[in-house]
Amino acid sequence: MRRLHLNAFLLGVGHHEAAWRTARADPAAVLDVEHYRHLARVAERGTFDSVFLADKLSTGHAARHNVLTMLEPTVLLAALASATSRIGLIATLSTGFDEPYHVARRLLTLDHVSGGRAGWNVVTSYSDAEARNFGADRVDEHDRRYRRAAEFVDVVRALWDSWEVGAFVHDRHDGVFADVERVHDLHHRGEFFRVDGALTAPRSRQGHPLLVQAGASPTGRDFAAGRADAVFTAHQTLADARAFRTDLRARAARAGRDPDDVVVLPGIVPIVGATEAAARARAAELDELVVTDYALRQLENLVGRDLSGLPLDGPLPDLPAPGEHRGAQGRLELITRLARDEGLTIRGILGRLAGGRGHLVVVGTPEHVADVMAGWFTAGGADGFNVMAAELPAGLEDFVEGVVPELRRRGLHRDHYDADTLRGHYGLASHSRGGASR
Ligand SMILES: Cc1cc2nc3c(=O)[nH]c(=O)nc-3n(C[C@H](O)[C@H](O)[C@H](O)COP(=O)(O)O)c2cc1C
Repeated sequence: MRRLHLNAFLLGVGHHEAAWRTARADPAAVLDVEHYRHLARVAERGTFDSVFLADKLSTGHAARHNVLTMLEPTVLLAALASATSRIGLIATLSTGFDEPYHVARRLLTLDHVSGGRAGWNVVTSYSDAEARNFGADRVDEHDRRYRRAAEFVDVVRALWDSWEVGAFVHDRHDGVFADVERVHDLHHRGEFFRVDGALTAPRSRQGHPLLVQAGASPTGRDFAAGRADAVFTAHQTLADARAFRTDLRARAARAGRDPDDVVVLPGIVPIVGATEAAARARAAELDELVVTDYALRQLENLVGRDLSGLPLDGPLPDLPAPGEHRGAQGRLELITRLARDEGLTIRGILGRLAGGRGHLVVVGTPEHVADVMAGWFTAGGADGFNVMAAELPAGLEDFVEGVVPELRRRGLHRDHYDADTLRGHYGLASHSRGGASR
């Protein structure tokens, strides 16, 4: 039977942008490894496939009110590896400002350290504030970023393949540490990178860590369809989610892949209460704590336009066509549609984005949240979900105690792990050199 894939997206003390301001929250926990260890253990109790850490290479524009990602993901996930035994560990690493050799090595190390549980969320980085931390004024133009990402990922995968299975012979008798006939230099010369040698370490249990991608533009979708095992995405409606998944599966087929090998995981921000009224009260409390100035800067960042001076109760100004936007095209399209289809004012849009930056916010009882998830899953809008708790740890605890048993009762979610690698949770075999991934 087809089952949900669940990923726990861990972001500081919660995805709601005001989560850190409630009396329940401990804002200092964003720097506390014990906070993250606890979250990973809770997610493992809920038999999630993975936990996931996002990343951004700048403090962003409004550190006065919130910074979303403070700690480097692979280092933090190495600490979580020792606190857990089964759950996958997905790190965001950017192809924009790094070198394939570094990234291949860091992820392979995480895979060795965790016994085969590493995954990579491949991002291109789309904000100029990040570019300015790496000697450039602006990020590369959109399609060039994806061209670089494609070559980057291909080199990383070739590096993971540079040691064949069994090349690490450690033959004490003959003094042969590695069979160099089975360790292959890359001699890669491409548009963006030159990489000569093989990786420093032999392949890990998984062979290739799981690859995740989250671009929603046409170029981003092609990139994901050609290379990713899972795709994170954001939709407000089931109709949009279905259209996206159908399109992505068609692109995967055109790229010569089995569409079932690309798992689509829309984000969901569950706000759960014992009663619907209790859940609504919690959501309202969070929304009331939003700092308008911060929310406005976030929106400006997403749409690439200065909105200062515009009346909050008026409409959004005309936005660039997504295809002409240098930043994240998928999110611009989502916001444009929200404004158009629902006739929202700027303030209305800020309210809709506060809970989860464009991801679906579902407020209600555990049964209601499970109903929505089951509905999207069976109607072809999702293969699973990227669970983005509004508050952490409380929201993830509520989800695992309330929604997970409900999903299990319906036969939609595992009650124990059959595998102990991340690829195993996805039903993928370990990736052996030259071999197929399934
Ligand atoms: C769930 C989710 C998580 C993401 N995490 C990150 C992240 O951590 N860092 C980042 O730079 N971009 C992140 N993104 C943005 C995408 O990777 C992508 O760069 C962006 O959507 C622009 O792609 P597009 O122009 O193809 O839509 C995320 C997107 C989604 C939907």
